[in-house]
Amino acid sequence: MVIEQSIEKGHKPINYLRLSVTDRCNLRCVYCMPEEGIDFLPHSSILTYEEMLRLVKISARSGIRKVRLTGGEPLVRKGFIGFLEKLCEIEELEEITLTTNGVLLKEYAKPLKECGICRLNVSLDTLKAERFLQVTGRDYFDRVWEGILEAEKCGFNPLKINVVAIRGVNDEEILDFARLTVEKPYHVRFIELMPVGKENIWSDERFISIEEILSAIEPLGPLRPILSNSLDGPAKRYILEGGKGEIGLIGAMSHHFCDSCNRLRLTAEGHLRTCLFSDQEIDVKTPLREGKGDDYILGLLTSAAINKTKDRGPIESGPRKCIRHMSSIGG
Ligand code: GTP
Ligand code: 5AD
Ligand code: SF4
Repeated sequence: MVIEQSIEKGHKPINYLRLSVTDRCNLRCVYCMPEEGIDFLPHSSILTYEEMLRLVKISARSGIRKVRLTGGEPLVRKGFIGFLEKLCEIEELEEITLTTNGVLLKEYAKPLKECGICRLNVSLDTLKAERFLQVTGRDYFDRVWEGILEAEKCGFNPLKINVVAIRGVNDEEILDFARLTVEKPYHVRFIELMPVGKENIWSDERFISIEEILSAIEPLGPLRPILSNSLDGPAKRYILEGGKGEIGLIGAMSHHFCDSCNRLRLTAEGHLRTCLFSDQEIDVKTPLREGKGDDYILGLLTSAAINKTKDRGPIESGPRKCIRHMSSIGG
């Protein structure tokens, strides 16, 4: 079993699977997808829902207890709620969560809650409608904000809001986002900009470290650190005095979570990735479509988990990069 083997090797048990259900998206965030020239995967290359369910069931045998659904934008894939209903029936899973850009959340919040999604993370880099259009290429700020309010109304708590910090784009909104956690029970997480995709907008000038973000927030008052739990992600968590919500800082570039990383990623195409920053992938779709049995697939998952430390992207040599587009990996 993966759990025992990874403990023997001295690293954290792999219990968290991030599953990208589509590489398509209804936004074009500047740090993620170019407006044009993206080669989306043909439908036949994307795992079917049946294939995903089978893979998740097998991965549950190997110790996976938490699944996060990502994209692209997961809510744009047809039949997604029906898939979730079946996913939520897998008994071994303790947490099923979703990362969304919120564009379709107003209509989907209720069905998501009803089918058993535990928590939602919404990506939102600005609180200003005009800037939203500049960052995402679409004029959908109001839809996303209404989606967040609807999700809160439906009882999603905590609701995490992911903010990718970019100098010259949203740096002057860091305080507004931090203040939001006083009024609202939201967990606002600032994420360091990462160089993702062959051509990307990352530069030293645009990059803002989490230390700088922390200093920018300090004038708002004392920040109390919060201890993380075992299924927690890489965020350092804080609470402002009187805050209903939390502030999280994700040092995606400046801090390496490798030694405590408990995750595997499955791309929409059916490739397993053991590290966001390593473009080494294991094709599980082909053996699945060739009719290989569950034990064979389990073997692939197990060896991916065991070799995780070997396959991680370089830490020592300069800034880490991820060549594949984030939209097909899911963050
Ligand atoms: P939860 O703790 O369940 O909320 O998960 P999460 O924080 O991992 O979920 P989310 O999808 O909101 O991810 C937040 C972001 O953190 C990701 O999109 C990445 O930008 C960053 N991140 C997540 N995992 C890693 C990782 O393994 N390495 C690095 N460098 N960044 C990561
Ligand atoms: N740098 C940092 N975060 C990114 N995300 C997507 N691309 C990048 C990038 N280049 C984030 C999104 C989303 C999460 C899944 O990944 O904002 O919240
Ligand atoms: Fe879509 Fe998320 Fe990429 Fe933005 S970051 S374009 S919302 S997949």
